[in-house]
Amino acid sequence: MTESYEASLTRSEDLEKRLAEHPEQFRMLTGDRPTGALHVGHYFGSIANRLRLQDSGADIMVLVADYQVITDREVAGDIAGNTRNLLLDGLAAGIDPERSTIFAHSAVPALNQLLLPFLSLVSVAELQRNPTVKDEAATAGITSISGLMLTYPVHQAADILFCKGNVVPVGKDQLPHIEQTRVVARRFNERYGQTFPEPEALLSATPLLLGTDGTKMSKSKGNVVELRMSADETAKQVKGAKTDSDRHITYDPVNRPEVSNLLTLAALCEGGDPAVIAEEIGDGGGGALKKRVTEALNTFFAPLRERRAELAADPSYVDGVLAAGNARANEIADATLAEVRERMGTVRV
Ligand code: TRP
Repeated sequence: MTESYEASLTRSEDLEKRLAEHPEQFRMLTGDRPTGALHVGHYFGSIANRLRLQDSGADIMVLVADYQVITDREVAGDIAGNTRNLLLDGLAAGIDPERSTIFAHSAVPALNQLLLPFLSLVSVAELQRNPTVKDEAATAGITSISGLMLTYPVHQAADILFCKGNVVPVGKDQLPHIEQTRVVARRFNERYGQTFPEPEALLSATPLLLGTDGTKMSKSKGNVVELRMSADETAKQVKGAKTDSDRHITYDPVNRPEVSNLLTLAALCEGGDPAVIAEEIGDGGGGALKKRVTEALNTFFAPLRERRAELAADPSYVDGVLAAGNARANEIADATLAEVRERMGTVRV
């Protein structure tokens, strides 16, 4: 079922070309779980891609995947607060509600109803093989996988297919879910007639950023720089970053992952080259490197942070954006569900 990462990359590059030529033929759907505020990894890994696509003229759907929060945890936390933070981060970054639809899946009943026919198209064995679900369960220390955890990739297929999204910007970990979505679309079409596109994954060109401790970024590990942090909080977070004992700074991702990760971060913010930045720092050591990274982050994110503070001052604006997005998503979902019922031949009186 799963193709190699190289094959996915090649397909993504080809998609990139078609997108540049005909943006109007694409509807992008992407989403985040409202589990906390977005961090710089999200920004460079996915938000930047969304903004680029928004500017290209493709239709943009941004999902707040609130039902996905309870897949790998029992306590949902402050979903409403986290949803508002997610919206603030996205809007401050430049997601434009005039051109993009931002919505929450718990607010779109017809989207969720698609899960029923879709579940009939997949086998339990297939669900149990999903490597991302297995990883997430292992990371969360879950020994008994819930029905939702097992089936959420099919729910994610509904997220994408309800609006007939055909391009999904994702990280590598999400590839199995895109593959599952393609399988659902294909089987539905085979059984009931052509209805859904088979969406394609758009992989980010940005190298994967690590947390300040050199491991995978994760809010719960406290190793991330959040977009909303103040300049001082950013400085503190970067100051605590792991480096190594060699004072001479070089860009060497294989042998010096932590130092190279900081260089990459500075380069992304400055629009420069990490190897050149390394040369400029030279014997300045970890201290000079961290100073450079802090300045780069604080300069790059200053306008976003300022705008975020302005938006946060008016909660009714953010709520209004979500309400309008939910309304549009409901229209689309109702139309798709009507089509699905028609194809399935359910009786409507
Ligand atoms: N599973 C994604 C994540 O954990 C979030 C998500 C939910 C998503 N639905 C989606 C991503 C649809 C892309 C498309 O980050």
